[in-house]
Amino acid sequence: MEAIGDEVRPEGEIGAGYAGRIFRQIQTLIDDTGGQAGGLIRVLQQVQGLIGYLPAPMLKTISRDLKIPLSEVYGIVSFYSFFTMVPKGKHVIQVCMGTSCYVKGGQRLLDTLKKDFGLEPEGITPDNKFSLETVRCLGCCGLSPVIAIGDDVHRKVKPSKIKDILSSYE
Ligand code: FES
Repeated sequence: MEAIGDEVRPEGEIGAGYAGRIFRQIQTLIDDTGGQAGGLIRVLQQVQGLIGYLPAPMLKTISRDLKIPLSEVYGIVSFYSFFTMVPKGKHVIQVCMGTSCYVKGGQRLLDTLKKDFGLEPEGITPDNKFSLETVRCLGCCGLSPVIAIGDDVHRKVKPSKIKDILSSYE
């Protein structure tokens, strides 16, 4: 995916290629709200649907064009958990750091992901294949430590098994 740079919409010019197409689609989304109240969440959802997350420069553009204070835009993004300001990988790894998983070795799993894959919480691999999050409980504490990758839940995970588990994802 072509990077969305700091300058979201150069004055008087919209670039060519992937980024240009995205900018045009986003501009259309913003224009379609007609400044209506309630348009903000719809625009945020659609922008996230287009590019997978909500980069800070994009929030500035949305704030400016919808004439909504940036603080309010950030407030909405942080209030709703389905909004994210960090890019997600094709597969999202969730490492449980709830009490049971923490005690049974959740931190060692995080350490292994960092050491072997360079992944830190809120991070993403250079090929965009995996991103990493920590969560509080995945609901199977009796089988901790637990990680989830997408809809798959892996129980009683040993650090030595992380490589095998990740290699099973295309
Ligand atoms: S604490 Fe990890 S699954 Fe509940």
